[in-house]
Amino acid sequence: MSLAVTLSRAQEGVAAPQVMVEVHLSGGLPGTHIVGLPEAAVREARDRVRVAIQNSAFEYPNRRVTVNLAPAELPKDGGRFDLAIALGILAAGGQVPRNKLDDCEFLGELALSGALRGVSGVLPALLRARARGRRVVVPRANAAEAALISDVDVRVADTLAEVCGWLRGAQELSSPASSKSLPEAYHGPDLIDVRGQLQARRALEITATGGHHLLLVGPPGTGKTMLAERLPGILPPLTESEALETCAVLSVTGQPVDLQHWRRRPFRAPHHTASAMALVGGGSDPRPGEISLAHNGVLFLDELPEHSRHVLDVLREPLESGRIVISRAARQATFPAQFQLIAAMNPCPCGYAGDPRERCQCTPDQRQRYRSRISGPLLDRIDLSVEVPRVPLSELGAPRSAHDEDSATVRARVIKARQHALMRAGRPNAEISTRELERDCALGPAERHWYDTALERLGLSARAYHRTLRVARTIADLDGGAAILDRTHLAEALQYRRV
Ligand SMILES: Nc1ncnc2c1ncn2[C@@H]1O[C@H](COP(=O)(O)OP(=O)(O)O)[C@@H](O)[C@H]1O
Ligand SMILES: [Mg+2]
Repeated sequence: MSLAVTLSRAQEGVAAPQVMVEVHLSGGLPGTHIVGLPEAAVREARDRVRVAIQNSAFEYPNRRVTVNLAPAELPKDGGRFDLAIALGILAAGGQVPRNKLDDCEFLGELALSGALRGVSGVLPALLRARARGRRVVVPRANAAEAALISDVDVRVADTLAEVCGWLRGAQELSSPASSKSLPEAYHGPDLIDVRGQLQARRALEITATGGHHLLLVGPPGTGKTMLAERLPGILPPLTESEALETCAVLSVTGQPVDLQHWRRRPFRAPHHTASAMALVGGGSDPRPGEISLAHNGVLFLDELPEHSRHVLDVLREPLESGRIVISRAARQATFPAQFQLIAAMNPCPCGYAGDPRERCQCTPDQRQRYRSRISGPLLDRIDLSVEVPRVPLSELGAPRSAHDEDSATVRARVIKARQHALMRAGRPNAEISTRELERDCALGPAERHWYDTALERLGLSARAYHRTLRVARTIADLDGGAAILDRTHLAEALQYRRV
């Protein structure tokens, strides 16, 4: 009787729980039994592993082979455990030594030839293995992701035979060259291209500093999309751990990680025809959606009222909590979704309400219905709304003024002002708790009375009360970080609640 144990990792949201593969060889009728995988997956894994072992010049045991994947309740889809199963079978039969197996984890699907195929979710698995101080063997197809993390011994292999050679001490497996690029200078769209729109530029700067959500309202062709696309360029660069979190989501979807730009803030702009599932994630084997791919970056919803009401409703919870829990009958997965929302919309269906040049064709009733497509609770969560009016053609062609700053100039101010929030609470203002808000947004008695009265008059909700105070905190941070907010900070914050 012989037993061997190998280690691998499953994929559950962006978590990577450990899976132990136990292989037992015994007498009795030859055959292979796999416990702990769904029926169809068992059949496929059994065939792939057997043929891959034979094609790698090893012998498949002519005995009763029992493979148990534990624990039982984890998602164990696909071929990610093939390599661990094959090595367990070979180790149980004494064809490879067991001494290196204890402190090593294996990920990879096997082709019939014995070649290793890449799997999704390697980055989360490596982060967990690093926490356990274990080595990891991954397919070469996943080397780029593996190159992103330091302080973990990762080995890359092309075939099952190579991994076996390494376990026997007959050959080396290379580690992926650490090709991480440092935070680069930003080369995306630049604010220098936007003429005029001073109020919208100011709102964009506040949004970037505090991590707030922003709505741009204006007729077609006034620069709303231009402005939204320029938010990533004025945000501070991702820290290494933020970048790894964001890449971990990408890794779970199986999309390749771009080594050149992995420290760049993501910018996701799903079309208004996108389904709720595409936007927030889902499926029987839960996958992250656009909001999670935008984690630590920007989600841009253009033509906001064109998105379905249902889709906008499901956004509310993640906007508040910074994560999304996807529940399915069998299991539940959590994905991070700390994104900044930028939305854009026309003021009415034809787009020209309030435009001095074009006449609006809509009836008051049509205008009303258009706006009511966006629910109050969603609007409450959007901290700043700003009008983006038409810029006179003469201004578009005029020489640049001192107000037409480039993104680098604005970004420097954003980074400096955000520092105040990071020193106080360790997070941007949009993410601080109500208690931290009370501590960090001190108001004098006269200011408090003034603020209360203004909110009453505007008919704002309790949620808007706190969110507007966070915006005022950010405005004060841009103004030098004074501990006590004054009336100009509050008044400016309230002005962005008016649209
Ligand atoms: N404020 C502006 N400054 C410079 N160019 C502008 C401005 N507004 C609009 N444009 C020009 O008009 C085009 C359309 O702008 P866009 O951002 O798509 O408008 P919107 O999203 O508001 O419909 C831009 O590509 C740009 O050439
Ligand atoms: Mg647009």
